[in-house]
Amino acid sequence: MNTTQNKTWALVEAEAARLKRTLLADLFAADPKRADVLTLSAPHLIADFSKQRVDAGALGALGALADAADFGAWRAKLFAGEIVNPSENRPAKHWELRADDAPAEVKDTRARMAAFALRIRPEIDSIVHLGIGGSDLGPRLILDALKPLRVAGLDVRFAANVDGADVADAIEGINPARALLIVVSKTFKTPETLANANFVRAWGPAHVAAATAAPEKALAWGVPAEHVFGFRDWVGGRYSLWSSVSLVCAVGLRDGNFERLLSGAAKMDTHFRDAPFAQNLPALAAAIQMWNREALAHGSYAIIPYAERLRLLPAYLQQLEMESNGKGVSREGAPLQRSACAVTWGAAGTSAQHSFFQLLHQGVDEIPVEFILNAGAHEGPPAHRAKVFANALAQARALMVGKDSSEPHRAFPGNRASTMLALDALSPEALGAFLAFYEHRTFTQAVLAGVNPFDQWGVELGKEMASALLPALEGGAAPAELDASTATWVGRLAG
Ligand code: F6P
Repeated sequence: MNTTQNKTWALVEAEAARLKRTLLADLFAADPKRADVLTLSAPHLIADFSKQRVDAGALGALGALADAADFGAWRAKLFAGEIVNPSENRPAKHWELRADDAPAEVKDTRARMAAFALRIRPEIDSIVHLGIGGSDLGPRLILDALKPLRVAGLDVRFAANVDGADVADAIEGINPARALLIVVSKTFKTPETLANANFVRAWGPAHVAAATAAPEKALAWGVPAEHVFGFRDWVGGRYSLWSSVSLVCAVGLRDGNFERLLSGAAKMDTHFRDAPFAQNLPALAAAIQMWNREALAHGSYAIIPYAERLRLLPAYLQQLEMESNGKGVSREGAPLQRSACAVTWGAAGTSAQHSFFQLLHQGVDEIPVEFILNAGAHEGPPAHRAKVFANALAQARALMVGKDSSEPHRAFPGNRASTMLALDALSPEALGAFLAFYEHRTFTQAVLAGVNPFDQWGVELGKEMASALLPALEGGAAPAELDASTATWVGRLAG
């Protein structure tokens, strides 16, 4: 962090010190236009930040922080395909996978996926998708979110975990003679995915396909060349749902819907690339995330989709945000003075209201909340739509206004911040724009903190240790120099 950045952080902290002494409700009283002024729109999305503890002064300081971090230059580098992942010496071009003017290679893979979908559907009743992390969470979310657009009668199963229960459930009750196995792994060497893939292949599915950035490994494993769908190493795993990683969506959604998702995301790319900071939804949302985490010291935030079809969003965002920005050193390797992200957690409302909302309303620490609404058509009983909205709006308002009571247990402190985000519909285009919004918010947070959001060295050590321990747990010798606790557990569990 350079001197200008340190100076602008001091500005941000001064604004935070001022606003910490202010009640959110008083900010509304002081400015009748507050709700309008702090509501921003972007393709398919609107976001109301007026219940966040920010005002013009705070946003001005955050804008200065973005300038000091060279936000404009880093954004330009991203879209120019320059190296933005220095530890792996790579660009990050996931946005190119959804561009209208994508390179021929990308368009060719999209066309092969669509043609494969048409060809394979009459021959299958089920798909077993095997992958983990970015090779699982995105496609799983898309298919769950867009359930009404799925191909009728096609049973889609996912397994990620190396706990055998997951893969056992995935094949339970389905006929291998009418099944398609899709193995998804960028590296095609992730042990969990390969263990599951070997097991399911031995069960005898009629068709096998793969999505990978290591096509030679998929071919060597026995996938026929015409069923291998590649992508490049400049697509990070958690940014890969726009690639052949979503082959299951191209087959499992009715024709054209996967392409509609891509086009919605491309519109958000244009917004993020071209809009100035103050009107740029992902950029401003990132600044507010950093404000909450660092200026106001909120260690986590809760993401609550008031839309059952978005129930998998928290799991997807946990990887996107925390694998990208859960870093302790800058892109140059210097220790960070400030975190690049908060802990992401949450669950779908209204169900979550009946579990952890107690803590959000009356717990000692404030945890900012991000409410998500589907402002378009809803499924199921028509009368339920208003009930969902009433609950979401009531929770955000209750967090902010609180309630006095002479009985301490019944009092609500209030003055707790939230954002209200609404998709214009739960359509493929809106979902694409929405997920691209989070990718760009994550990227902007990384720029503000000075970290590389496209590597994930922090997952390596545990992987190495697991492979070193495996032989001992399979009955062989334990590695030398284990700590006493691990050695005892190996002894207890070895079989
Ligand atoms: O362990 C982390 C990770 O490398 C993620 O970044 C990635 O999404 C996941 O594993 C799966 O990797 P692959 O697609 O190579 O199997």
